Amino acid sequence: PTLEKDMLPLYFGWFLAKRDEDNLRKTAHEFLEQLGNLKAFKKHLQAFSCEDKHKMDLLKYFAKTPNILHCTTKFCDYGKAPGSEEYAQLEAVRKGYSKAFTLHISALFVTPRTAGAQVELTQEQLHVWPSDAEKEAMPKDVLPRGSRAHITLGCASDVQDVQAGIDLLEFVKLQQAGREGENMGELLGGKISYYDSGMWMLVLPRKKEVKTIFSGYYG
Ligand code: A2P
Repeated sequence: PTLEKDMLPLYFGWFLAKRDEDNLRKTAHEFLEQLGNLKAFKKHLQAFSCEDKHKMDLLKYFAKTPNILHCTTKFCDYGKAPGSEEYAQLEAVRKGYSKAFTLHISALFVTPRTAGAQVELTQEQLHVWPSDAEKEAMPKDVLPRGSRAHITLGCASDVQDVQAGIDLLEFVKLQQAGREGENMGELLGGKISYYDSGMWMLVLPRKKEVKTIFSGYYG
C-alpha cells in the first residue's frame, strides 16, 4: 500500500464553537463601541489614521474581521513555513487534533493596527504551542512562552491578521518592563489602560471561557 503524506494546513489552531464565537463577536462589538466613545480615547487619536477624527468609528476602522474566530497555534502555509512538518508530528498535536479545549480570554486590546483578545494558555495547551512562536515574532526579546496567544478580532485596512499577535507582544514587552499603562477608568466592568502610541488594553473582570476545537484550517 502507498503511504500518503499528511497534508499540512494553512494553519493549526483552536476554533471557537459557534455560540462562543457569536458571543465573543458581541463582546468585541461592545468593547469597540464603548472605547470609541471614551473621552480619553478621543483625546489620544493621533496614532489612528482616519480622515475625520470627529467621526472616528472603531467598528468601521476594524471592519476587516476573520471569517472564523480562532487562536492560531502554528502558521504552516501548507508546509512552506519553517518547522511545519515537525510541528504537525508533535505527539501533543496529533493527540490533541479534533479534540475540545476551553480557552481563557483575559484581556481585549486595540492598537492603530489591530483589535484582539489575549488568551492565557494552560499547561496542557502549552504542549501544542510552538516553542519558537514568540521568538519568531520578536527575535530580540525573551518573552514568556504562550504570550503571543490571541484571537484576532479585527484589522485596520491594509493590515494583515498576523499583526495582532505582534501587537499583543508589544503590550507584554511593556508590561515586562514594568509599564502598566495609564488607568483610564472602567469599561465592561474591567480596567481600561492606555499605553501610548494608540495602544489600549482592557483587563476583563473575569476571564472569559470559550469552547474550541483544535484543528487545521485548509482554506
Ligand atoms: P492571526 O493568528 O494573528 O489571526 P492569512 O489569512 O493571512 O493567511 O492568515 C491565516 C491565519 O494565520 C491568521 O489567523 C493569521 O494571524 C495567522 N498567520 C498568518 N501569518 C502568520 C505568521 N507568519 N505567523 C503566525 N501566524 C500567522
